[in-house]
Amino acid sequence: MVLVAPSILSADFARLGQEVRALEKAGADLIHIDVMDGHFVPNLTFGAGVVRDIRPCTDLPFDVHLMMTNPADFIPAFAAAGADCITVHLECGQNMADLIALIKKEGKRVGISVRPGTKMSDLIPWLPMIDLVLVMAVEPGFGGQAFQQEAIARIATLKELIGRKPVQISVDGGINDVTAPACVLAGADILVAGSYILGHKPYARAIAALKGKA
Ligand code: DX5
Ligand code: ZN
Repeated sequence: MVLVAPSILSADFARLGQEVRALEKAGADLIHIDVMDGHFVPNLTFGAGVVRDIRPCTDLPFDVHLMMTNPADFIPAFAAAGADCITVHLECGQNMADLIALIKKEGKRVGISVRPGTKMSDLIPWLPMIDLVLVMAVEPGFGGQAFQQEAIARIATLKELIGRKPVQISVDGGINDVTAPACVLAGADILVAGSYILGHKPYARAIAALKGKA
């Protein structure tokens, strides 16, 4: 069964704790937390203090997506704030081996994300060392963008590269009831969705639709 990770980027920040509780109640499997630094992407969101403050609101794992040029400076803070999986971008410019070691040292699961233009084969050296690949189906930075169809073939390619290694495939950007089934068919284990879930009340119906249960 595919897992659904609602992105709180599309939540009502004035009621963030309640939103997280509502997402858990609606059947979410993980909470996806988009951290943007205004450099790696042209947008800003929030830091580790927000993650710490919503941590008591749910038992669900926190899937923290760091869209930053200097994740090494912030990984310990996000780990301490309650992240369960920390995902860095392959294109961030920092040394991947060091970042993987740092996340593991904090005892957290390791994810690497790739922008739509990055070759999947660039992930090969890292696949034996990580837990998850986050395939971007839009340019990171904003919620509500249209799904790029090329992501389907990229997921299938990644699935082949992973083979029997225990690496999950997550897909992020433009996920809705129409785009989700092809992602799952191609091999996605986790669907990240912001505007589709948070923009459609009740959340339980949107989450069930992504799981193919509606
Ligand atoms: C984009 C973020 C996504 C985003 C997805 O930069 O990484 O997690 O919130 O939003 P939707 O589902 O609206 O495309
Ligand atoms: Zn994300």
